[in-house]
Amino acid sequence: MGNVTILVGAQWGDEGKGKWIDIMADSADIVTRYQGGNNAGHTLYVDGQKVVLHQIPSGIFHPGKISALSTGVVVNPHQLVEEMRKVSPFVKLTPERLWLSARAHVISPWHIHLDGKKEAESAQPIGTTKRGIGPTYAEKANRTGLRLGDFINPDRRARWYHLMQQSVQGFVTHREVYREDWLRFEEAAEQLADFICDAELRVRKAIESGRKVLLEGAQGALLDINHGTYPYVTSSETAAGGAFASLGFSPKRIDKIYGVAKAYVTRVGEGAFPTELKCETGLLIATRGKEFGATTGRPRRCGWLDAVALRYSAQISGYDGIILNKMDILTDLPEVKVCVAYEHPKLGRIEDFPWDHEVLAACTPVYKTFAGWKEEMPRTGRMADLPANARKYVDGVEEILGYPISMVGTGVNRQDALFR
Ligand code: GDP
Ligand code: IMO
Ligand code: MG
Repeated sequence: MGNVTILVGAQWGDEGKGKWIDIMADSADIVTRYQGGNNAGHTLYVDGQKVVLHQIPSGIFHPGKISALSTGVVVNPHQLVEEMRKVSPFVKLTPERLWLSARAHVISPWHIHLDGKKEAESAQPIGTTKRGIGPTYAEKANRTGLRLGDFINPDRRARWYHLMQQSVQGFVTHREVYREDWLRFEEAAEQLADFICDAELRVRKAIESGRKVLLEGAQGALLDINHGTYPYVTSSETAAGGAFASLGFSPKRIDKIYGVAKAYVTRVGEGAFPTELKCETGLLIATRGKEFGATTGRPRRCGWLDAVALRYSAQISGYDGIILNKMDILTDLPEVKVCVAYEHPKLGRIEDFPWDHEVLAACTPVYKTFAGWKEEMPRTGRMADLPANARKYVDGVEEILGYPISMVGTGVNRQDALFR
C-alpha cells in the first residue's frame, strides 16, 4: 500500500483545498506543494483566526510536521519571506521544518511586469492574478529561467541578469525604474538561503522510508495547462498527474487521490462557465459563500454544480474520493440544480467535456433539479446525519458522476467536516 496522498482542486480553484489539507495534515508527516505559485490563496482557520496562505503549504500549523515546496512550483521570494513572517506568531520556522526546492523557479519583478502588460494589452485577456505566473513558467520552458538555488548565489544571479539584459528588451530600464522592487527581491535571497535544499531528494527519501506524504494541489483541474479550458487556464499541471512529474516519485506510491469540489461552482477570471448564474440566485450564493478571491479580492462568478465538468476532472485525475465542500451554503435554497449534460446549438446533447473552448462557451446546461433543505448541517462528523434532502443531493450527485463522494464540508473550521 502507498503512503502518498494527493489532494487537488476539482473545479476552477478555490474549492477549499486549504481547509482540507489542514484537516488531512494531521495524519501526514510532510505536506508538499508541487505546482503553482502565489496565484494560489488557501484559507484556513487557526484557533478561530483566518489565515490565507499563498505559497507555504497548508499543513504548516501542525506542530512537528514538515512543509516542502518542490520543483514544479514558482516562488515569489519577497512574498514568501513576508508569508513566513505572517505565520511566525503561530509556528517557529526552521530549515528542518520548511524545505524549499533549489530547483523551483523564481518569479522576478520582470515576470510580474510582463504578466500585467500582456493582460493590459491583450485583445483576449485571461484574467490572470497578475502574479507573474505565466511568464515565469514560459521562461522555465524556454530554459532561460532562474532557479532558487541559483538565485541565492550572487554570481549566478548576476549571470542571469546578464543573460536577460542581452536578450530581453526593456529589462535594463525596468531594473533602473523599479530599483526598490529589485532590491527587495535580492534581499529575500539572503533570508531564504538557509531553507533552500534538494527538497525532492528529501521528500522522495521520506516516501521510500514509508513516511506519510500529503501533496497539496493549487488551482483546479479545469485550469490545467494540458487538460483545462485552454487558453483560459493557469500555466502549470493542476490535475493529479502533475504531482508525479513535478515532485518526481513513483506513482506506485500513491495511497489515495482526492478532488475537492464545491457543492456548486465558482470561477475567477475569464473563460467559459456553462452553469454560471447571472441572477439573484448566483448573487445569493456569492454573498452566502463569501465568494471573493483570497488572492486578488475579485468577486468569484458562481453557478450550479456542473457534473459534466466534474466527471471529466475525476477522469483525468482518478479520484478515489470527491470532497463536496461548502454544502452549508446551499441550505435554505428552495431547490438545487446539477448540470447533467450540455446542449449545443449545432452539436446537440454533449455528455463529454469538450476540448474546444468555443464549443464549451456555446453550451447551455441540462439540469436535474433536487429539492432544497432548511435544516442545519450536522456536527456529528457523519454524512449519514445530513438532512434527508441534502443526503439525496449528495447521493444523486454521486450517481450522476459515477465517482464516490467520501467527505462533505459544512463550514470554515477543521471540525466542519463529514465523513462517509
Ligand atoms: P482554496 O484555494 O481551494 O484553498 O480555497 P479558498 O481558501 O480560496 O476559498 C475557499 C473559501 O471557503 C475560504 O474562504 C474558506 O474559509 C471557505 N470554506 C472552506 N470550506 C468551507 C465550507 O465547508 N463551508 C463554508 N461555508 N466555507 C468554507
Ligand atoms: P487556488 O489555489 C482560482 C485563475 C485566474 C485566471 C487563471 C490564470 O487558490 O485555488 P494565473 O495568475 O494563474 O496565470 O491566472 O487562473 N487562477 C485561480 N483561480 N483559484 C486559484 O488558486 C487560482 N490561481 C489562478 O483567476 O483565471
Ligand atoms: Mg483559493
